[in-house]
Amino acid sequence: MGVGSALGKQSSSVGKQGNMSSSPGNTQSHADLKLDDGDTETKHILPMPISNLEVQYTKIFIDNEWHESCSGRKMPVYNPTTGELLCEVEEADTEDVDKAVSRARAAFQLGSPWRRMDASDRGQLLNKLADLVERDRLRLATLEALDSGKVFLMAYFVDLLATIKSLRYYGGWADKIHGKTIPVDGEYFTYTRHEPIGVCGQIIPWNFPLMMFAWKISQALCCGNTIVIKPAEQTPLTALHMAHLIKEAGFPPGVVNVLPGYGPTAGRAIAQHMDVDKIAFTGSTAVGKLIQQAAGGSNLKRVTLELGGKSPNIIFADCDLEYAVEQAHSGVFFHQGQCCLAGSRVFVEDSIYDEFVYRSVEKARKKVLGNPLVPGVDQGPQIDQKQFDKILDLIESGKKDGATLECGGGPWDQKGLYIQPTVFSNVTDDMRIAKEEIFGPVQQIMRFHSVQEVIQRANSTHYGLVAGVFTNNIDKALTVSSALQAGTVWINCYAAMSSQCPFGGFKMSGNGRELGEYALQEYTEVKAVTIKISQKNS
Ligand code: NAI
Ligand code: MG
Repeated sequence: MGVGSALGKQSSSVGKQGNMSSSPGNTQSHADLKLDDGDTETKHILPMPISNLEVQYTKIFIDNEWHESCSGRKMPVYNPTTGELLCEVEEADTEDVDKAVSRARAAFQLGSPWRRMDASDRGQLLNKLADLVERDRLRLATLEALDSGKVFLMAYFVDLLATIKSLRYYGGWADKIHGKTIPVDGEYFTYTRHEPIGVCGQIIPWNFPLMMFAWKISQALCCGNTIVIKPAEQTPLTALHMAHLIKEAGFPPGVVNVLPGYGPTAGRAIAQHMDVDKIAFTGSTAVGKLIQQAAGGSNLKRVTLELGGKSPNIIFADCDLEYAVEQAHSGVFFHQGQCCLAGSRVFVEDSIYDEFVYRSVEKARKKVLGNPLVPGVDQGPQIDQKQFDKILDLIESGKKDGATLECGGGPWDQKGLYIQPTVFSNVTDDMRIAKEEIFGPVQQIMRFHSVQEVIQRANSTHYGLVAGVFTNNIDKALTVSSALQAGTVWINCYAAMSSQCPFGGFKMSGNGRELGEYALQEYTEVKAVTIKISQKNS
């Protein structure tokens, strides 16, 4: 996801100061994030990645201690930019999951330090963790760029800022989670308690490794749960650094346990564990289905899922054209297209179609590919060979199915997992590139004629994560946003995320909501307590 609004003032200076003037298509160029010209001091200082960074944490984190894997196995961690091995980390499997769950259960026992803790102190711990993330911001952003191929400045400004904000936001909620008193029959008094659910399993993907980690743990911890979390096998390093910070912040042992491992082994063990009370998953729809099945087949643990999308971005002729072109561009090319919320079906009204395509191609052509640690680069490599092959296969299908290839259309002519920014026009709804999640730097532009037609076509998908609408007509904006089947609708903006605003999908894009106050109900059980009032004294 994009976290556009989380970019804030600093990140807009990235676009200017990062010497990206030759790349107006860079993904930081959200028009709603103008530079504050008064801030000349900070404007000229750009953070730089730490050179020769040594990876410090490579083990399994259980009960605030580092452990080797029970199997003795380790797994390789690669830098997708160079293909080089960064390090090996201990590989968790079923036995390690059992160990972690039992420690998380112990930490959740009534009377434990965590359960006895004043809720305000829980909030303080989250704030302390945010302080430590701020202290280690450069290190975390460098690790993230090395491990995932994410553009360093994007990691530093977007992901790190969203991480810090989410920890602080939920730190603020910790002592404000209230039940209700409920008027019932006069002989009774009823109140509700919003209690933590228990041990939460959390499985996260590789596209926003640190930010996903922060979203997941901050919500669960503010409500008083304990956690067993598995980062994606491609990107475990920032999660392991966070484990270290969690201990340093002073969270009691067992409250957060971090287990690097593979999906079908460690991930599956978490999903089907009989002593895990809730699972939260972000990733593919296919694995989301497995998670739900595993929950159903084991202990009916609570499930929240944040899955894929094939999100419509609808551009009406009465929009601000240049701005819409730019937002639609960053809406799909952000982070190499590896975003669940990518606006990968751009519907453009007939009368502006040709001009919109022309300007979109101009933008895509100007993107600067290269090493994501180098300032000025705004597109790094795809995460791994599997994703690279999947994207190229879909690009080929687009060519075969008769879409017009406007630019790109294959690997970049340098070594590595780079894909040329690709734009297809004359895309029709039956093509694979219009139906399947590509998760790469590939923009599909379709033509439409009427409001009713575009609503019907936009909703004609199993997904329902997000949608965009660009128009200066308020009636049109409201009509379309009400009709769209999506958990988020952006009007005249795209990827404008914040910690305060709920995020999640309709239909096969998921279950439940993350972020904002809405997330609290996903991490609490409601207990109704009813007391009979004695009539003796009346
Ligand atoms: P994935 O769904 O396999 O991986 C996401 C997480 O699930 C990882 O931590 C992985 O280890 C874990 N996992 C895999 N199999 C599991 C299992 N059987 N039980 C429990 N956990 C399991 O996604 P993958 O293969 O990395 O990417 C495939 C496609 O999924 C992408 O091309 C993209 O379309 C979509 N995707 C969507 C994301 C989103 O943000 N919603 C993030 C990553 C991928
Ligand atoms: Mg990696």
